[in-house]
Amino acid sequence: MCGIVGFVGEKNVAELLPACLKKLDYRGYDSFGFAFQNNSLLLVVKQVGRITDFNGFLAKSASIGIAHSRWATHGAVTKKNAHPHISCDGKIAIVHNGIIENHSELREKLAKKGHSFAGETDSEVAVHLAEEFINQGRSFREAARETCRSLKGAFALLFINRESNELIAARNGSPLILGLVENGTFVASDTTAFIEFTKQAIFLDDGQIAFLGKEIELENFNTGQKLSTKISHIEWDAEQAQKNGFEHFMLKEIFEQPDAIEKCIQGRIANGQAVLPELDSIAEKLGKINRIVIVACGTSWHAGLVAEYAFEELCALPVEVEYSAEFRYRNPVIDENCLVIAISQSGETADTLAALREAKKHNAPVLSICNVMGSTIARESDAVIYTRAGPEIGVASTKAFTTQLAVLNLVALFIALQRNSAPESKVTDALNGLKSIPNAMRKTLEQSKTVEAIAGLYWDKSNALYLGRGPNYPIALEGALKLKEISYLHAEGMPAAEMKHGPIALIDSNMPVVFIAVKDRTYEKVLANIEEVRARNGCVIAVSSEAATEIKNLSDSVIYIAETIPLFQPMLSVIPLQLLAYHIAKKRNCDIDKPRNLAKSVTVE
Ligand code: G6P
Repeated sequence: MCGIVGFVGEKNVAELLPACLKKLDYRGYDSFGFAFQNNSLLLVVKQVGRITDFNGFLAKSASIGIAHSRWATHGAVTKKNAHPHISCDGKIAIVHNGIIENHSELREKLAKKGHSFAGETDSEVAVHLAEEFINQGRSFREAARETCRSLKGAFALLFINRESNELIAARNGSPLILGLVENGTFVASDTTAFIEFTKQAIFLDDGQIAFLGKEIELENFNTGQKLSTKISHIEWDAEQAQKNGFEHFMLKEIFEQPDAIEKCIQGRIANGQAVLPELDSIAEKLGKINRIVIVACGTSWHAGLVAEYAFEELCALPVEVEYSAEFRYRNPVIDENCLVIAISQSGETADTLAALREAKKHNAPVLSICNVMGSTIARESDAVIYTRAGPEIGVASTKAFTTQLAVLNLVALFIALQRNSAPESKVTDALNGLKSIPNAMRKTLEQSKTVEAIAGLYWDKSNALYLGRGPNYPIALEGALKLKEISYLHAEGMPAAEMKHGPIALIDSNMPVVFIAVKDRTYEKVLANIEEVRARNGCVIAVSSEAATEIKNLSDSVIYIAETIPLFQPMLSVIPLQLLAYHIAKKRNCDIDKPRNLAKSVTVE
């Protein structure tokens, strides 16, 4: 949801920033821009389109610069609405990520004072406000502080001024991280922008403003209180953010899943137990819980739905899985005995963050499951377990999802032993099952060519249904979501048994129906649903296992997956669905890693 990056120091930012911004283009990719400050000049370049297509600047040099890749919220995709935004006198430039909620009111006031606005964005008020404070005699620093105090809503803001050698960065609700190198400082929405140069980072908190020049000075912009800096070490590698020979990040990330699960469970299984020291801080509270509420959005919400089955079966606890955006605006009936689990790949999704804060207001212990280290959700939770999937660049989530499932299963097994709600032998078997998932995934990935061939049969259809039961019902939802996200085909997922209550009316020879039909306790029922589709000439694509011998004769196409215990089957059954969406999108010439209108990290409501 917009990527911002800046640098101050002894490097030529005109060369540096385009490369850094390219790493952030998954956050927004409709337009982009740069502002460089050098020898009291401000050079601004903006363009509609993708930063990845940008060839760079000719022989320009500068040592302070800011850059932005946009995902439009307020105002159309135009050059004028692209960031950086510039003050009327051309001296100050800003880039912004977030949403300024009081922008209309501020715009009106500033217009009355003579400021003229170039575009329609909410962000532009920030630069005119800063200019207004400077016009009133304030210093650049004071103007930036005052601007932050006047804004309502979410922002990560970078300011530069052609009369200053400082870059000013402020955060309230949108991520901002400093990257430390010798003789310089980066600032960006995500560490991937600068990971190639440094792993030393300072994560800014809400309400903080950083003055970046020869030194780094940190303050609370509301109180003016000086703050100390805490340097964190980032564990990800620069190579992990490369395509490594794969045509798309999404395909690479699908194939990375076995390794990602291996890393995810490494050291977390020993002596027949799930080892999760991350839960120590809430151990006492965990002992008292009588309910679990899971909050998440998108694919992470599907992970929550899958986990519901594990928590019920292993922990005998009632579970509700809520869309974060719905939960936050209800009056949730929760208390200190309800464990709230927030699932978020990015750790920055605005609705999930708000749901977490709502849960904390009710004294509920909050456990988050995040992929991005140091992200806001991770930091604000009472406990966090990282999924260790490495950077996920493709907008459509894949390896983040399966590692979320692995962590959720570990948590369920941990709680099961703590509560004595499942026999030890069942927990041990399940943990052994989890250890065998990476190899089972490798075997399942061998089906890639088969899936590609099947995609060739259906890529030009207009609709698809995805059906599954039990823990594979959320996988049907996830399969449909993957197809919608990257191929722009209409698809719906639902519990297989629900089909007969309406959607069956849609079935004819033009409707591919993807069934997840594995040998679990609902297998026979799913077979009956397949027959219902066949009776109406629908095309059946089955995701199944070799043990399910009946499937071959009942389906137009079959994709065989490895088998594991039913609770963990979703980690395998989702793989062909990710691949199917990928290959269909490829045949339809879609922009797989950056689907239209989507963003990887949704930091607005
Ligand atoms: C966006 C992404 C989805 C993701 C969802 C939740 O919509 O495009 O892939 O599942 O946000 O993101 P989170 O980072 O909270 O898991």
